[in-house]
Amino acid sequence: MTSVKRVLTGITTTGTPHLGNYVGAIAPCIEASTQADTESFLFLADYHALIKCQDPAMVKQSSREIAATWLALGLDTDNSVFYRQSDVPEIPELCWILSCSAAKGLMNRAHAYKAAVADNEAREADPDLGVTMGLFNYPVLMAADILMFKATHVPVGKDQIQHIEMARDIASRFNHHYGELLVLPEAVVDQETDVLLGLDGRKMSKSYGNTIPLFDAEKKLKKSINKIKTNLLEPGEAKDPDTSTVFQIWSAFATPSERSSMRREFEQGIAWGEAKKRLYELINDHLSEARGRYDVLMNNPEEIERVLQKGAIKAREHSAPLMKQIREAVGIASMA
Ligand code: TRP
Repeated sequence: MTSVKRVLTGITTTGTPHLGNYVGAIAPCIEASTQADTESFLFLADYHALIKCQDPAMVKQSSREIAATWLALGLDTDNSVFYRQSDVPEIPELCWILSCSAAKGLMNRAHAYKAAVADNEAREADPDLGVTMGLFNYPVLMAADILMFKATHVPVGKDQIQHIEMARDIASRFNHHYGELLVLPEAVVDQETDVLLGLDGRKMSKSYGNTIPLFDAEKKLKKSINKIKTNLLEPGEAKDPDTSTVFQIWSAFATPSERSSMRREFEQGIAWGEAKKRLYELINDHLSEARGRYDVLMNNPEEIERVLQKGAIKAREHSAPLMKQIREAVGIASMA
């Protein structure tokens, strides 16, 4: 018997998609969604966004940009379930029910919460200063996202492994008490080779402010690439590709043969200006068609909404029946 993998990915709707998101998450996810033995569930985690961001315009804009990005890059929404968390009312309902099984002590150990408390303590402030119940409950909401759809595999970065372990813990407690309704998910940790470096040479991340937005217009893209930090070696001086952000980003977009020929050029002393120009051309060629589709979608929010509503219907075909079983299992049911 071949077992079908059900892969689930959530994207928090804060910020604009950048090259690092594309290389590390979006591209591999779209690729996985085309595999015959895989069912893909992809969603905009807009309830999670509220934990980090209390600017309504930004949450809205980011949701639109992220949805448009996935669609422009060719996510096949007939072959996957693409939806918005807030369109599935069973998720917050399950979140509540699970929070009645989840141990508070377990949540005390969550990295994000612990980091906030440690920060406060370091500044001798009240340990809970600025800590919302949303932040504290974050892992329970994430568990609800995953368990609601009986996901078997959840691709995550290293920082999120703990959340998958918590989802497993919460699910087994629930199952132990109420019967085997929930499926324990497995974390799939991405080979960290795929972490892209940002303008300053650290990991490309919104929180470092060192990103290159994925679908900026050509001029802006060129400008960003010109800002990538390099050393002071002159044209003609050999450069080390393995410590170069320019080469690292090049490698993420290049074919193996383009990669080795650029490696040779580095060793032969290509000028930084020239290397950046070539990097711009490579990325631009790679993205320009998708950028055209992105611009069209960004100007057609009704089209994005239509796709999301279709996705919500598909998602609820899974969530509604399971929720019905869960309600009955916990003793919330019709009296008639
Ligand atoms: N917490 C994830 C992040 O910040 C986003 C997310 C929310 C998620 N719910 C999820 C990821 C469920 C995987 C599964 O990246």
